[in-house]
Amino acid sequence: MIVLGIETSCDETAVAVIKDGRQALSSKVFSQIFKHKQWGGVIPEVASRMHLETINRLIHDALAEAQITIKDITAIAVTQGPGLVGSLMVGFNVAKTLAWIHQKPLIPVNHLYGHVCANFLETDLEPPFLCMLASGGHTQVIAMPDFTNMQIMGETVDDAAGEAFDKVARLMDLAYPGGPHLDKLAQTASDTGSYRFPVPKVGDYNFSFSGLKTAVLRLKEKISAEQWENDKAQIAKAFQECIAKTLFEKVLLASQNTQLHSIVLAGGVAANSAIRARFREEFTPENGFNLIVPSLKYCTDNAAMIASAGYFLYKYGSHSHVPADPNTLQQEVYARAS
Ligand code: KG4
Ligand code: ZN
Repeated sequence: MIVLGIETSCDETAVAVIKDGRQALSSKVFSQIFKHKQWGGVIPEVASRMHLETINRLIHDALAEAQITIKDITAIAVTQGPGLVGSLMVGFNVAKTLAWIHQKPLIPVNHLYGHVCANFLETDLEPPFLCMLASGGHTQVIAMPDFTNMQIMGETVDDAAGEAFDKVARLMDLAYPGGPHLDKLAQTASDTGSYRFPVPKVGDYNFSFSGLKTAVLRLKEKISAEQWENDKAQIAKAFQECIAKTLFEKVLLASQNTQLHSIVLAGGVAANSAIRARFREEFTPENGFNLIVPSLKYCTDNAAMIASAGYFLYKYGSHSHVPADPNTLQQEVYARAS
């Protein structure tokens, strides 16, 4: 079964062709970061326009690289939300129109479920498993009892992990989006010096990152500008090690309490080198774990994960066929965009 995936929830236009939910025949991502970085963040109106300008070419390229035509596609999967409404509308309307014209089933996909499904790409992962999902807007520990049901065990009570990375990176005058730049800076430090940030204490599986962000701000105010500049890399390293420790400890607790030993990472923040290293050090086969970490290109936003999600929803879960009532689906996009 071949699924065409379309993702336009934020500042990446992405189209992919996936076979049987796991094999990428093509995966195209056009990042708008070069445009938005001049403003230090995503401008929604600009994002929607750029999706419009790019999407048709990307669909053409993804099909060409997969060496198929749209007639060979079994179904079309598209991100329905959460995300920027105007951006979602572009991808959703293109997908809906293609489904309508070519009489293919349309499968609306939750973006977060898509991130989880990035772990099915290039692997033979089977549920049940635990997923640590950390993206720009969400931080969740999720239990997946089967292929399509997400049981959210805990989530952030304030900032998401990606948000904390981006805000602290801004304090360090790093370019948008700050996460990957902070990661690179941290890797230039051999140690954390005398800098330590405590793991925030919130109940069970929940997270809180706003205090950590404030702790970095207070540190910046306390030390001299010169020391801040000199020690920035060490501070970045201490900050990201604190996040890595936090995520690890929550997943470990979830694993102990659920007896699930199959662990996966997902979302843009899962691209972070310290988090990947910490999870790889701790969740080893020797310790009784099976860990899957998606390749970097499938951590940040892409359409391969959406097509994979579409496949599993089509196979095991509920899905809508060619929309009988396009207006209802349109309203759903609005409802799920927040
Ligand atoms: O999943 P994603 O691409 O988009 C959302 O669905 O939000 O995640 C984007 C987030 C941003 O906050 C970005 O700074 C962060 O992922 N990110 C990273 C790294 N690469 C991306 N954070 C830390 N280290 C990285 N290497
Ligand atoms: Zn995402």
